[in-house]
Amino acid sequence: MVASEARPFCKTGGLADVVGALPAALQQRGEDVAVVIPAYRVNRYPGSLKEVYRNLRIALGKGYLVDLYESVERGVPFYFVDCPELFDRAGIYNEAGVDYPDNHLRYAVLCMAALEVGRHLFRPQLLHCHDWQAGLVPLYIRQFFQNDPTFVGIKTLFTIHNLGYQGLMPASTMAEIALDPRFFNPGGFEFNGLINFLKAGIVFSDAVSTVSRGYAREIQTPEYGFGLDGLLLERADRLTGIVNGVDYLDWNPETDRHLSQNYSVDDLSGKRECKRAVLAEFGLPADNLDRPLIGIVSRFADQKGFDLIAQVAHQLASLDLAMVVLGSGEQRYERLFHDLTTTYPDRFGNWIGYNDGLAHRIEAGADMFLMPSRYEPCGLNQIYSLRYGTVPIVRATGGLDDTIGPETGFKFWDYAGWALLSAVDHAIGTYADPEKWIEMMKRGMRADFSWDASAAEYSALYRRLAAV
Ligand code: ADP
Ligand code: GLC
Repeated sequence: MVASEARPFCKTGGLADVVGALPAALQQRGEDVAVVIPAYRVNRYPGSLKEVYRNLRIALGKGYLVDLYESVERGVPFYFVDCPELFDRAGIYNEAGVDYPDNHLRYAVLCMAALEVGRHLFRPQLLHCHDWQAGLVPLYIRQFFQNDPTFVGIKTLFTIHNLGYQGLMPASTMAEIALDPRFFNPGGFEFNGLINFLKAGIVFSDAVSTVSRGYAREIQTPEYGFGLDGLLLERADRLTGIVNGVDYLDWNPETDRHLSQNYSVDDLSGKRECKRAVLAEFGLPADNLDRPLIGIVSRFADQKGFDLIAQVAHQLASLDLAMVVLGSGEQRYERLFHDLTTTYPDRFGNWIGYNDGLAHRIEAGADMFLMPSRYEPCGLNQIYSLRYGTVPIVRATGGLDDTIGPETGFKFWDYAGWALLSAVDHAIGTYADPEKWIEMMKRGMRADFSWDASAAEYSALYRRLAAV
C-alpha cells in the first residue's frame, strides 16, 4: 500500500485510521502486506525503527537521494521514505493553511520511492494506492516499468477516500515529475489544463474503489463528482465501494486508556462519569449533566457541513442541550465555534486544534454525535460513536447514510439548516424517554463494524485482479 499518512505514525484524518488498521486485518486473513509512507518530521514511532536502504536515487526534479526506514507494527512492515528536503517540515500537507508549493514533487517522490521499495525490499503482486498522493504510482508503472521484470503483471488498485482533494498541479510541473506529455489530455491525467494526480490514479489503475457503496454511486453524479463523474460513470464496471471498518483495539469504551472510567454495553455507569469529566474539561457547568450533550470532532472543512450549523446556531443554542466541539481548519468555522462559546459559555465549549485523547473523551462523554456533512465518503466518527453509545445525528449522505439506520441514529436528508434542526429536535425528544434512548444506545454498541468483513472484500478484490 502507498499512502500519505498512517496511524500510529502520523494522522490528519480518517485515511490514517484506515491505512493504520486495514493492513493488519488483511494480514490476519493471510495476506502479506507492507505499507509505504513519508518520514515526516511529525511522525511518531512507537516501535523500533531501522534503516533498511541508504541513498536511493530518485530521478525527479533536481534528483533526490532518499533513505528508507522500516518499523513493524502489528506484524505489518511500514516503510518510511526519508527525504529531509521534502518531508522534514512543520506540517504534513501545509502550514498555516497554505499547501506546500512543491507538493507535486513531494508525492511524486513518494510514489517513485514506493516502486523502489517494491524492487528492493518487498516484492508485491499488487499495489494498493490511496488518494491523490499515491495517484502517480500506476502512471509511473505504465510509463517506466511496463517491461521491467519486477513489475511485469503487477496489478494496481486505486482507492478514493475523498474526491474533493485531487492534487491539482500546474502543467508547468510536468517535466519535473517526469510525466509523459502524451498523456496530458482529457483521456489521461489532464483536467481543465492542470495535472490531476487523482485522475491519474483513476485512469491508469486496474480497478478503483471508494470507501462506501453509497459514495461509489454518488460520485458518478454531477452533484458529488467534482468534475470527474463522467469518467467514473464510464468506468463504473471497475468501481466498487467497500465500507471502512473500526479498529476496536483503538476505539473501545471497555479498554480505552484515554477515559477516566471505562464502560460497556452491560454496564453503562462509567459513561455518566465520562460525561461529567468531559463537561469539566471544557469548563461547562455540571448542571449540563442531565441535558443531552452533543459532541463534534472534525476537520473544519466545507465538506463537513458547518455552514448549516452557522445558519441555525442561535436556534440550536435555544434548545435544551449542551455542545462540545473539537477541531481545526477553516478560520470561519473556528470563529463560529469560538463565538458560540463566548455567547453561551454555559452551554458551548470548543477546543481548536488536534487532540487524540480529547477525541476519545468526547466520543465517550457525549450523548449524541453530530455529523451534518455535505458529502462523506465513509466517515469514521459516526461508527466510533455507535460503539461508545453516543447516538449519531447525521446527514444521509455517502457512508453516513450507509452505516446509520433509524434504529441506531437520526438522519436528515435535505442539506438545509431546518433539516438539521429537526433531526436534533427529534433526538432530544427521544433522549427524554430514557428507556427508548438506552435501547437505541445499546443497539449501536452491539453493531459490529470490525475490519474483518471489509478486509475480506478487499482480499477478494485483490484476488480477482491478480487472476486477470
Ligand atoms: P475525515 O477523514 O474526512 O477527516 P473521518 O470521519 O473519516 O473524516 O475521520 C476523521 C478522523 O480524524 C477520526 O479518527 C477523528 O477522530 C479524527 N479527528 C478529526 N479531527 C480531529 C481533531 N481535531 N483532533 C483529534 N482527532 C481528530
Ligand atoms: C476521507 C473521507 C472520510 C473517510 C476517510 C477514510 O478523509 O473524508 O469520509 O472516512 O477518508 O476513508
